[in-house]
Amino acid sequence: MTEEEPRGYECSPWELRWRGMDVDALQRTESAFAVSNGHIGLRGTLEEAEPRGLPGTYLNGFYEQHELPYAEAGYGYPEEGQTVVNVTDGKIIRLLVEDEPLDMRYGAATAHDRVLDFRKGTLSRTTEWSSPTGRRVRVRTERLVSFTQRAIAAIRYEVEPLDEDLQLVVQSDLLANEPIESDTSDPRVAAALNSPLVGEFHRASDYNAVLVHQTRRSGLRMAAAMDHKIEVDDGIRARIHSEEDLARLTVAVDVPKGGRLRITKFLAYGWSAQRSVPALRSQVEAALAGARQTGWKGLITEQRAFLDDYWATSDIEIDGDPELQQAVRFALFHLLQAGARGESRAIAGKGLTGPGYDGHAFWDTESFVLPVLTYTIPDAARDALRWRHSTMDKARERAHQLGLRGAAFPWRSINGAECSAYWPAGTAAFHVSADIADAVLRYLNATGDEEFERDYGTELLLETARLWASLGHHDRHGDFRIDGVTGPDEYSAVADNNVYTNLMARRNLLAAAESCERHPDVAAHFGVDTVELDSWRAAAAAMYLPYDPELGVHPQSEGFLDHDEWDYENTDLAHYPLLLHFPYFDLYRKQVVKQADLVLALHLCGDSFSPEEKARDFAYYEARTVRDSSLSAGTQAVVAAEVGHLDLAYDYLAEAALTDLHDVHNNVRNGLHMASLAGAWQGAVAGFGGLRDHGGTLAFAPRLPAQLDRITFRLMFRGTRFQVEIDRDQATYHVLDGDPLEVLHHGERITVAAEPQRFAIPKIDAGEPPVQPPGRAPMRRDSEKLRQYAEPANPISEVYSD
Ligand code: BGC
Repeated sequence: MTEEEPRGYECSPWELRWRGMDVDALQRTESAFAVSNGHIGLRGTLEEAEPRGLPGTYLNGFYEQHELPYAEAGYGYPEEGQTVVNVTDGKIIRLLVEDEPLDMRYGAATAHDRVLDFRKGTLSRTTEWSSPTGRRVRVRTERLVSFTQRAIAAIRYEVEPLDEDLQLVVQSDLLANEPIESDTSDPRVAAALNSPLVGEFHRASDYNAVLVHQTRRSGLRMAAAMDHKIEVDDGIRARIHSEEDLARLTVAVDVPKGGRLRITKFLAYGWSAQRSVPALRSQVEAALAGARQTGWKGLITEQRAFLDDYWATSDIEIDGDPELQQAVRFALFHLLQAGARGESRAIAGKGLTGPGYDGHAFWDTESFVLPVLTYTIPDAARDALRWRHSTMDKARERAHQLGLRGAAFPWRSINGAECSAYWPAGTAAFHVSADIADAVLRYLNATGDEEFERDYGTELLLETARLWASLGHHDRHGDFRIDGVTGPDEYSAVADNNVYTNLMARRNLLAAAESCERHPDVAAHFGVDTVELDSWRAAAAAMYLPYDPELGVHPQSEGFLDHDEWDYENTDLAHYPLLLHFPYFDLYRKQVVKQADLVLALHLCGDSFSPEEKARDFAYYEARTVRDSSLSAGTQAVVAAEVGHLDLAYDYLAEAALTDLHDVHNNVRNGLHMASLAGAWQGAVAGFGGLRDHGGTLAFAPRLPAQLDRITFRLMFRGTRFQVEIDRDQATYHVLDGDPLEVLHHGERITVAAEPQRFAIPKIDAGEPPVQPPGRAPMRRDSEKLRQYAEPANPISEVYSD
């Protein structure tokens, strides 16, 4: 139908643009074009609601409950699952042009263009459409979810007749219980999500309306409200009405050629597990009144100011690869959207961009997303950790149920209760509790936030330390072992002494002991005495770390190096991801690695390995890592850069950054991969910048791959905003605002001050690059094509060499 051919995303440094209409690509563009503030998320569906991939309006923390399916249940299996709900949709604005509905599948779209603007924080769209009977209109829309007014979203909608006077009818809706297709194979989950909302209250008058609903099983209540400002040259007829699941404002108006109808729609959302219908109703009405007072222009101005501030602390400039530049900013923008205003709610694996993973949060948050937020918008990191803290009672209960002490945080959850039905790669992945402790420690080091430590941090550290003390034991040699756990690699399960887990547990135990000593009152309140402190220190000191002197490498878990090799040579490339084609029992007993595990330890616990060990371990695991998870490439980029394989690091960084834009895992329709987007930051800042924060010292070891001309990044540490610029032979550091800062540059202590200072970059000769399993090497980026690629109209898929 469209005359303008769709060409994929265009390359541009500060925006994501898709020109032309491609119905088949809608699902994945809806995820990429989602707008969110961490509290409200709106997928990038068209205003007229159809054609569509998957509608989606999400409120962080708002879920429905359902039974978890087990053919054979066992003790301690979670009984209830949680699934994010598609709540009342306020994005819908339908248009009738002289009786013909605007629908891009009919008539002709002579121009269609959607743009997500990373600096403005809006999604806009321009469509020129000719109806089946030849009536032409131009529709311009722009939408935002406000970073400054947490409960607010707004849409500006404009229609212009292009050739003649036209009667236009606009219907602006709040629609609950939209029918959606669900991917789930479990009929109980599908049933829970079919009309999950029960209407409790509706009201409409003038140009505004409110709907209040409650979920059937989880008992959560939500309210959505809308109000409109209508601008048109001539008289209008407007009618508003509401029923249980629908509120609709209908506006009919004759617009002359050259005239314009403009509607500004303000939306407010709120939810609560406790508040009454009148209380929630009042809450959204009050939020709406505030937004109306600010007005569209005001909201746009506030949004821009918020983003200017964010970019001043977080921007990464990449010279020499425009597509990577765009992808890295896309990543940073979506990470902000996932975490900015979550305020004591989780940051889900997909943020609020789609229903994937049922809307659950995983260790992805603490180990991947929070390092980015800690150094760019630390308050958002603090709030995410406060969410974990708010689920402490559930984590204590879970530990108790499992016969353990302290707190066992869930593998996957929305409200803090364990929702993983597959315990070998769920409950057994206890490392999530150490990952949370590590995120606490990183946040404390980066901010010095003593209040947070006293109110939340110490408790998080001590309860997770208790978990490790009870989960592990001293064997007859005195070693402290942690047996029967699953590490980050989900192709091994329930193994003994996973090196990553043991190292992270050791850090957790020591950090808890130190924090308790800093806050003896908190420690006393939770009954920690010196005997317990000593036991944590003793466990940490005796932590067992398996090593194979013959091969000179660390097994990711004890016994791993004796497992049979996977037959990579004869594995059909169509059989990746392996988990969909081979039984877990076979994956578990072979040397095949889904995602960085020991290699993640090399990054996060790098102070426990010598440079030679890192090089050998990295090469060993490269040959066995298949990257069936999007959580791997970013980490592999970091360690490849550290051991000097800079070209390989570059390819991995590009893979992490482009995972969603290229739909590498063929599932972006269900939402973006927040951990992979965070991997883009990791690859640039921890990889080529060499950022490490072991023991609270900020260290850098900058290096550039041959294909790039320069990387510049900005960070915040202890209230100081500073910048690191990496050129071929030197790195330049300077403070943008705040006090001077002591950091390490390739091991040398330097003071970063307002005056830029340059330091030489030592050469590194890493030798031959490691090999990956056949067909599993990251795609090579073709630097020649990349350089020509400054042309904005080139589709991004062309820049890979074959
Ligand atoms: C990965 C996990 C991850 C989860 C959610 C899985 O495929 O193996 O490490 O937490 O996805 O992103």
